[in-house]
Amino acid sequence: MQLDLTQASGFAGEIAASSTLSELNEVKVKYLGKKGLISLLNKQLPSLAPEERPAAGEKIQGLRNGFEALFQERLEKIGREAREKAILSEYIDISMPGFPFVNGSLHPVNRVYDEIVDIFTIAGYEVKSGPEVEDDYHNFEALNIPKTHPARDMQDTFYIHGDIVLRTHTSPVQIRTMESQKPPIKIISPGKVYRCDYDVTHSPMFHQVEGIVVDKGVTFGDMKGALRLFISRMFGDDLDVRLRPSFFPFTEPSAEVDMGCVQCRGKGCRMCKGTGWLEIGGCGMVDPEVFRFVGTDPDVYSGFAFGMGIERIALLKYGIDDIRLFYENSLKFLKQF
Ligand code: DAH
Repeated sequence: MQLDLTQASGFAGEIAASSTLSELNEVKVKYLGKKGLISLLNKQLPSLAPEERPAAGEKIQGLRNGFEALFQERLEKIGREAREKAILSEYIDISMPGFPFVNGSLHPVNRVYDEIVDIFTIAGYEVKSGPEVEDDYHNFEALNIPKTHPARDMQDTFYIHGDIVLRTHTSPVQIRTMESQKPPIKIISPGKVYRCDYDVTHSPMFHQVEGIVVDKGVTFGDMKGALRLFISRMFGDDLDVRLRPSFFPFTEPSAEVDMGCVQCRGKGCRMCKGTGWLEIGGCGMVDPEVFRFVGTDPDVYSGFAFGMGIERIALLKYGIDDIRLFYENSLKFLKQF
């Protein structure tokens, strides 16, 4: 009997035709698997005459070696092709334009806040802060606003519980500073304040900057000079400052601070309702009662204080007519700054 090798020799074409790993493996199973065409030949060896077996065995081994060589070669080629394909598909066109990098900008309120701090620190003021959750004593009592005082009604206070409130102004920082520091004192205190109020010119949270200067011989004239300096640095030195008599429990005498209208520069326009003036804050000489609360002798020391709304200054500076625009976070609005 002779071994028939024809079927088991047909692998070359099939290996060459395999284009994927799994196709190639199928061919391997077909020829070299347990029941593969080459493996089956081995099982026929015992049926040969003993003297024919060595030669037949060599032929089978020859087929096996031939298969392995072609298989290996094809395997490497398929691997190489797959890698090349991956490299091509992962190609990055480095000449393509990138995604634009969008730069943020400072919020107009922060911008004005920073400018205020700069103007006053250059003039020798220290910056102090105080708690936004404040007690009744610092927010009202020590500022000469007792429980029954009608001025409390003006402030639309948010009460937390008992004697704890959200501060309605930055004036409590005056008290805290004078409690912990002896004159001379020359500070500003910018920060958030809260009032239960909401319309075109009011927001439940807004910013104020408080200023206080205490020393021997501080005068009303010094106060006007400080305010004039601030207004000229912030809005231009052609604008005048005017102090109108007013009332605040913590200052005596007290005044409203007006400055020349930013739009018509004092001539009279719609913005200033024809008056040429815009109101930007309150001020006055520290009331002797307040000095007594903090243990400063009003016969030795005098001082002035002022308070302004930072949003109000930003509205005037940028010609904006609705305070709510500051808090809606519309990019259309914010991008203009
Ligand atoms: N605290 C006042 C308010 O919020 C503003 C103010 C007025 C502050 C006069 C002062 C001042 O220091 O002297 O309405």
